Amino acid sequence: MPAICRRCRSKPAEVRLPYARMSLCPDCFRRYFEDRIRRTVEEFKMFKSQDTVGVAVSGGKDSAALLHGLRQAFPGLKLVALHVDLGIKKYSEHCLEKVRALTRGLEVELHVFDLKRELGFSIDDFRLTPYRRKICAPCGTIKRHLFDELAREAGVKVLATGHNLDDVVGTMLTTFLAGDWSQLVRLKPVLPPLSPLQTRKVKPLLRSPEWEDLLYAAYSDLPFRDIGCPHAGGTRVRRNQELLEALSRRNPAFRHQTLNNFLRLIPILEKHVDQPPLTTCRRCGYPSSAEVCAYCRRVELVKNTLEKRRQRSKLNPLLRGINRDQANDI
Ligand code: AMP
Ligand code: FES
Ligand code: ZN
Repeated sequence: MPAICRRCRSKPAEVRLPYARMSLCPDCFRRYFEDRIRRTVEEFKMFKSQDTVGVAVSGGKDSAALLHGLRQAFPGLKLVALHVDLGIKKYSEHCLEKVRALTRGLEVELHVFDLKRELGFSIDDFRLTPYRRKICAPCGTIKRHLFDELAREAGVKVLATGHNLDDVVGTMLTTFLAGDWSQLVRLKPVLPPLSPLQTRKVKPLLRSPEWEDLLYAAYSDLPFRDIGCPHAGGTRVRRNQELLEALSRRNPAFRHQTLNNFLRLIPILEKHVDQPPLTTCRRCGYPSSAEVCAYCRRVELVKNTLEKRRQRSKLNPLLRGINRDQANDI
């Protein structure tokens, strides 16, 4: 006989939550997921009910679950969806389609930043730069900067991202193992802006395991991408997540316990770890630890690379012509 849902005690249970020793039916699981979002937002005072909250939607399951979950958990809250079209061949078109379907279905206003149209390059163009094997790195820097620009354009002061429990604990572990204390401090659930150009960043899914985001999105019939980014590779964070996966098999509450301990550690670290001194980027005006920020440097690199390539392709037919003429002279 199938197990009965622990909450409603009437329908068959389909979802087993081993860390909570509980099995739920799909409807009760969705309520449980939404309650957890509400409690997380309240626990960390992420935003107030009268705020307009920007939600960074990528086309993936996490941010789809986040947008729908926030709508259910806070029915009166004004939400605006923000998407960066990265111009990655096939992948970005697919993501944008899903984002449009999701926001249309939930009747949420959508703002899109089209990288190719606005800045003249795509993330694929980093293949021509020394980042060719680790495109995720400049992509992350560019996305983070553009989230702020999009949020400003949409007039939102709070920006929610779909980072889940696995992402947060994986990144915490990676920065911890690297001894990068100032970066670890920046992983807190609420990151206040460092300048008026930035928004407050919040992670309402930080207590939601990745697998549950997928289940929630599927049970709620949300559109989300079913292809992966062609540039995703074996990053350090990914490898540490595999390590966490193995540890969680032995102790299902491992990630939750690790997160709670990290969250206790952060205020202590904050008192003792000096953040690198910040100045203002002389190109874009955003806070930066160098004269020109990482975003502006990556943009300059890819634009210069594309320009050199354009010059070379203009010269090539000329050079070929010269060679032919020289050959005719011989
Ligand atoms: P990732 O860094 O790809 O794991 O994404 C983490 C979170 O960042 C997602 O859950 C989204 O909230 C946000 N995000 C990532 N890519 C995009 C994008 N292209 N446009 C808007 N938001 C994004
Ligand atoms: Fe950024 Fe894949 S989404 S490299
Ligand atoms: Zn800059």
